[in-house]
Amino acid sequence: MRRVVTIDGPAGSGKSTVARIVADRLGWRLLDTGAMYRSVALAALRAGIDLADEEALGALAGRVTVTMPPGQVLLDDQDVTREIRTVEVTRVTRFAAENPRVRQVLASWQRAFAAENDTITEGRDQGTIVFPDAPCKFFLTADPTERARRRHAEFLQRGESISFEDVLRDQLRRDAEDTERAIAPLRPADDATLIDTTGRTIDEIATIVETAARRCSGETCFPEPPQS
Ligand code: DC
Repeated sequence: MRRVVTIDGPAGSGKSTVARIVADRLGWRLLDTGAMYRSVALAALRAGIDLADEEALGALAGRVTVTMPPGQVLLDDQDVTREIRTVEVTRVTRFAAENPRVRQVLASWQRAFAAENDTITEGRDQGTIVFPDAPCKFFLTADPTERARRRHAEFLQRGESISFEDVLRDQLRRDAEDTERAIAPLRPADDATLIDTTGRTIDEIATIVETAARRCSGETCFPEPPQS
């Protein structure tokens, strides 16, 4: 019997770090669903496909494979762990996120992953669309300036030169795209626990999520797949 904890929220809310720590502590697998959308966008860039061509991009998602062995992201067996985090890929990933066929393909990969592994999954729609019956859901937020500061530090750490102002502007645009898109918009599930991470330590948040996940572990909590 497999278990799933969902962590959704905007970029820079701390969800990726929290999800990684909790997965390590529990010995569960981490599912970084943003990495899947980024990988499809990268595949399109590499193939020279017009990302705005909804049909072509949807068909591409049906042809590529994205696998996630611990700590790695493989696009058709090639390691793209670093490349999917560049500013360029980050900017065009919205085309993959807005594409209904891409979302359908990736949601089925995500459910297949969670059927095989006890999973901490993080993204935008995990609690609302992909695992609506997960018994343990979180939605993380933080003040926009603090989120941009965290993202800026990540880019600098990876050696990418970008100004704080550009990170903040890109983030505001992505927030709007994520929350306003017609399909699978970013929003908390009705039964998600909301946590504002502003000014709080990652360890504090990770412990809250870990405690809830352990409580859930005692139960049968593999979600029934939605009928679609
Ligand atoms: O979490 P991230 O920044 O790596 O996500 C990259 C993009 O993918 C982001 O703009 C929103 C989108 N995304 C999504 O639409 N649904 C998900 N489950 C995960 C990410």
